[in-house]
Order: sequence, then C-alpha cells, then structure tokens
Amino acid sequence: MITVHTVEQLRAAIRLARAEGKRVGFVPTMGNLHDGHIALVKRAQDECEFVVASIFVNPLQFGPTEDLDKYPRTLAADQQRLEAAGCTVLFAPSVDQMYPDGQQDQTLVSVPGVSEGLCGASRPGHFTGVATVVCKLFNMVQPDVAVFGEKDFQQLAVIRKMVRDLSLPVTLIGQPTERAADGLALSSRNGYLNEAERAAAPQLYRTLCTVADAVREGRRDYPALLSQAIARLEQAGFRPDYLELRDADTLQPAGADSRRLVLLVAAYLGKTRLIDNLQFSIDS
Ligand code: PAF
Repeated sequence: MITVHTVEQLRAAIRLARAEGKRVGFVPTMGNLHDGHIALVKRAQDECEFVVASIFVNPLQFGPTEDLDKYPRTLAADQQRLEAAGCTVLFAPSVDQMYPDGQQDQTLVSVPGVSEGLCGASRPGHFTGVATVVCKLFNMVQPDVAVFGEKDFQQLAVIRKMVRDLSLPVTLIGQPTERAADGLALSSRNGYLNEAERAAAPQLYRTLCTVADAVREGRRDYPALLSQAIARLEQAGFRPDYLELRDADTLQPAGADSRRLVLLVAAYLGKTRLIDNLQFSIDS
C-alpha cells in the first residue's frame, strides 16, 4: 500500500491502475479505523482490484461546539490496519489540500429532504459538510464503486440522493453495521466512553431490538411505543436526542402502509453522542 497526501499523487496512482484495466473501489473515512472500516475495505475488494481508502477529518461537517479538535487522529495505526487488509492506496490529504481556498467561500452541496430531521436537526450543516466532501472525494478518486457503513443510515441516504441528483458515475454499496459481542455498534466515538458508560452503551441496540420485536409482533401505536423506549433509555443513563421509526426506503416517518422500516436513534452517554439504527420488515 502507498500513502499519498496530494490530489496529484492520488490521480497519478489511479491513472496507472486504470491503464491496467483495474476497477477502482473507494472507502472514505475519518480514520481511527476499527473492524467496521476494515469490513468496508474488504467489501470494496470483493468488487474491485484496486481499493483507495481516504482518511480526512473533515472540518466542514463539524459544528462549532463539536469534537473536531479532539477527534482521534491515529494515522500510523490506521496505515498498518489498511495495509494488512490489502488496501492499495491511502489518500490522507491535509485541510489545505482539500480546501485550498479556505472553507469560507467553498461551493457547497446541499441535499434537501433526507438531510432534514434526525441528525440533520441536531447537527445543522452537518450533512452539507458531508455531501460536499464526499462529492469532492468522488471527483478526486473517480471510483467505480464506493462503500459506506449502514451505521450512518441517514448519511448513506443523503449520499445516495446526491449521487442520483448530480448523476455521479459511481455505484454505492451500503455495508451492514459491525457490532461488538454485546451488540454495541462499532464507532470511533466509542473510545470516548468511560468504563461505566461502555457498560451501559449496549442498551441502545437492545432498545432498538425490543421496539422492532414489538412492531413485528403487531404493535402499531408507534408514538406510545417510542415514548416508552425513550423512557427506558433515560433510565439506563442516556440523554436521548431522538428515537424515530421511519420508512427505510424514503426516510419519511413510518406510515400505516410502510413495510420496510428503520428505527433510528441518537443518544448521549455523558458527553458522547452515539447513533445506531435497525432495519426490519413487516408483512402488514
Ligand atoms: O462517515 C464518515 O466517516 C464521514 O462522514 C465521511 C463519509 C468519511 C465524510 O467525511
């Protein structure tokens, strides 16, 4: 694996791969890689002979009070993990390389509809920052295939809409969430949890499973069911931001005729904001 830091170096490496007729897969990340990221790289390898991963902690997607400065930066360890996973190129640009004219007057990609509500409500501007950097990265790498984790369900919906609306020539793949043995979704932010918070954290996924079971068993009083689940999360020490049941295809609130559903949750444990989701289907 080679690590490149400039767009010029990246494009030179990709030109060579293209000349050899290789398909290019892409896994964008913010680093501090865990098994969930490695699963994305492996998925890209299933589709493509040449796999590019990027590590860039994108300032444009962090709010003024969010964890940009303390977001874990672990480049050396990440390089080792990517190399062991068989990644071909690591693109690790600087902020100046990504935003050479600064961020103030940067052209933005804003994706209406799916960006609103859920994380979009509590993190204003976040999805515009994500869509903008992913669009730039797609233009730099020009991949055939890009792989994203389904853990960031709304993010994936935003990127799917951006790709469709802007006719970007890339096939998107959503990779199911990797979980610890106790069910906690793998996330770089899990590293912020202290011992007691880490012990409580699996309640987030357990709550999603309990709600999904109740819906599968026939409960349709969604508001009451979700309020009970929020109360349970509070009892377990969480400060819930939202817990919602949405149509998995449109991300609109689940209606009487929604069959493919997704439960989405964001909740704070101490200062750490965790998100998770669970997709499931019902027959009627
Ligand atoms: O999911 C992430 O790690 C980031 O939002 C992404 C897609 C790499 C864009 O910065």
